Amino acid sequence: MATETAVRIHQAGGVEQMKLEQVEVGEPGGGEIRIRHHACGLNYIDIYHRSGVYPLQLPQTLGMEGAGVIEAVGEGVTHLRVGDRAAYASQPIGAYCTARVMPARSVVRLPDEISFETGAAMMLKGLTAQYLLRRTLPQGGLQAGDQVLFHAAAGGVGLIACQWARALGLQMIATAGSDEKCALVVENGAAVAINYRKEKFPERVREITQGRGVKVVYDSVGADTFEGSLDCLSPFGLMVSFGNASGVVPPVNTGLLAAKGSLYLTRPTLFTHLASREASQAMADDLFAMVVSGKVKIHVSQRYALAEVAQAHRELEARTTVGSGVLLV
Ligand SMILES: NC(=O)c1ccc[n+]([C@@H]2O[C@H](COP(=O)([O-])OP(=O)(O)OC[C@H]3O[C@@H](n4cnc5c(N)ncnc54)[C@H](OP(=O)(O)O)[C@@H]3O)[C@@H](O)[C@H]2O)c1
Repeated sequence: MATETAVRIHQAGGVEQMKLEQVEVGEPGGGEIRIRHHACGLNYIDIYHRSGVYPLQLPQTLGMEGAGVIEAVGEGVTHLRVGDRAAYASQPIGAYCTARVMPARSVVRLPDEISFETGAAMMLKGLTAQYLLRRTLPQGGLQAGDQVLFHAAAGGVGLIACQWARALGLQMIATAGSDEKCALVVENGAAVAINYRKEKFPERVREITQGRGVKVVYDSVGADTFEGSLDCLSPFGLMVSFGNASGVVPPVNTGLLAAKGSLYLTRPTLFTHLASREASQAMADDLFAMVVSGKVKIHVSQRYALAEVAQAHRELEARTTVGSGVLLV
């Protein structure tokens, strides 16, 4: 058994809980592969895992996204070979490490045109943008010209979604937490940006849509924006609550959905979409096509060594990052 370096927690809490440790990594079993990482992705979910918002069995290596080279293949794995460049966004948790054994099901071959760094920066965030904009739709779907609201659009998922929405012909109304971030989202395809730390976004959305409201709100901010987001929807509109960066949304009085126009509400997670190998591959192919064609550019704006993971988490929580961040292995 080889010894590898991993970022682990033994209890939930602040960044000081993350320790660089040596762990033993063996051979893959049936249906598994061993991957040697070149880069691992940083995601807001890693903060929920570390802090205990999403409880884990402990001790645990953090991280859910990576890219590297397949080093060993277990019995029954037919879509990957030793030496393949590969990437993934998948459970189980455990991507912050030099190498790991994991189920092959959600691991896909990385096209040669996409670097390891970009691969690690785009899988979890890009597949999320994919299922949101392509599979999480209001009644009747979305057509070119439709207006949608997307919160925290300068972040990892957000900057990919801005560009993807533009490619689909959607009019994205984007929110972000500073004027610089607002300028960035417009450069990346949003039709209009609202600095929601300075302006009341529900009022601005009503103005921009001339009172009609939007067909969908994609809301990953959670507690701070949930109710305001409902006020941005047109009748029968869809509220997609997919994250809780500002805190978990309190229990919802479903009567609110009636009062605000027979609204639909969903709380999706990427991992339901990635349940089968076929679905994972189809979603990844869609994402790779967007990136290889240049319609979606992956902004790797933050790079850290594995040992700098505490700094990476501090910056993500402090809202000072834009686009994607990676740990270089
Ligand atoms: N359900 C799913 O399938 C799924 C999958 C992937 C990601 N997500 C969610 O999508 C969101 C984006 O993920 P990401 O990894 O790309 O992160 P990110 O957007 O790069 O970072 C989170 C952003 O949230 C905004 N924010 C608003 N209020 C905040 C607060 N009180 N504290 C911290 N940040 C706050 C900040 O942008 P501003 O400064 O512009 O406000 C911050 O940059 C996260 O909530 C994540 O959990 C959900």
